Amino acid sequence: MITIHTIKELREHVSDARQAGKVIGFVPTMGNLHAGHISLVERAKKECDFIVSSIFVNPLQFNDKSDLQRYPRTLPNDQEQLTAAHCDLLFAPDVDEMYPHDQDEQSIVHVPVVSAGLCGGSRPGHFDGVSTVVTKLFNQVLPDNAYFGEKDFQQVAVIRKMVSDLCMPVNVITVPTARADDGLALSSRNGYLSTDERELAVGLYKTLNEIAAELHQGLALESVIEGAIRRLNSRGFKTDYIEVRDASDLSTVTSISTGTQEIVILAAAFLGNARLIDNMVVTLNRGIV
Ligand code: PAJ
Repeated sequence: MITIHTIKELREHVSDARQAGKVIGFVPTMGNLHAGHISLVERAKKECDFIVSSIFVNPLQFNDKSDLQRYPRTLPNDQEQLTAAHCDLLFAPDVDEMYPHDQDEQSIVHVPVVSAGLCGGSRPGHFDGVSTVVTKLFNQVLPDNAYFGEKDFQQVAVIRKMVSDLCMPVNVITVPTARADDGLALSSRNGYLSTDERELAVGLYKTLNEIAAELHQGLALESVIEGAIRRLNSRGFKTDYIEVRDASDLSTVTSISTGTQEIVILAAAFLGNARLIDNMVVTLNRGIV
């Protein structure tokens, strides 16, 4: 695998691959890679001939500057993992390469509706930062396919809407969440957990499973969510949000209707210094009572 740091070199390598008739697959990341990131590369490998991954800790999407400063940067280890996964090209630009001008003068891509609420509510400006950097990366790489993890469910919804609204010629492909043996979703932020907190962390996934089971049983949505927040807090978390939304467009679900309905349960919660997120897509099939 070749590592490059400039947009110029990136364009040259990708253009050579395209001229050779290769299908370009792209996996954008912020580094500190784990098996979840690598599952995106593996999926891309199955569907494309030339795999580009990027590592860029994007300042524009961090509303909290101390969160940006402490974000783990582990390039040599990331390079090893990407090489083992047969990634062809790693693009690792620095901040000046991506944002050569004052960040206040940067044009911003704002994706309305789906970026409001949930993580967009708790982290103001976060999704503007994500959609802006992903637009830039798409324009730099010009991939055929781009791969995103279902773990960041709202992020995928934002990217899909952006690609559709702005007619970007990219296929967005979603990959299921990779989990640890106990069910905890793999995340770079799990590294902030102490040993004791790591044991408690599975409480988030447990809570999602319980909500799904209670909704399958036909319990009322509002009381299910209230009970789940209480339980998650008693498991050592400080709940940021737990919400049930329509899985197709993230629109609000106020009650569970009869018939078949695909919903997604989304949760974010603090455990010690870490803010963890997870979600679960559930198909409910309620008969007429
Ligand atoms: P990052 O958090 O590094 O994640 C990069 C990609 O890996 C995202 O698509 C994310 O959903 C996916 N991912 C993370 N954990 C995963 C898991 N356990 N299973 C499967 N996929 C997982 O998301 C970002 O970076 C940034 O916002 C980015 C899109 C790169 C823009 O800066």
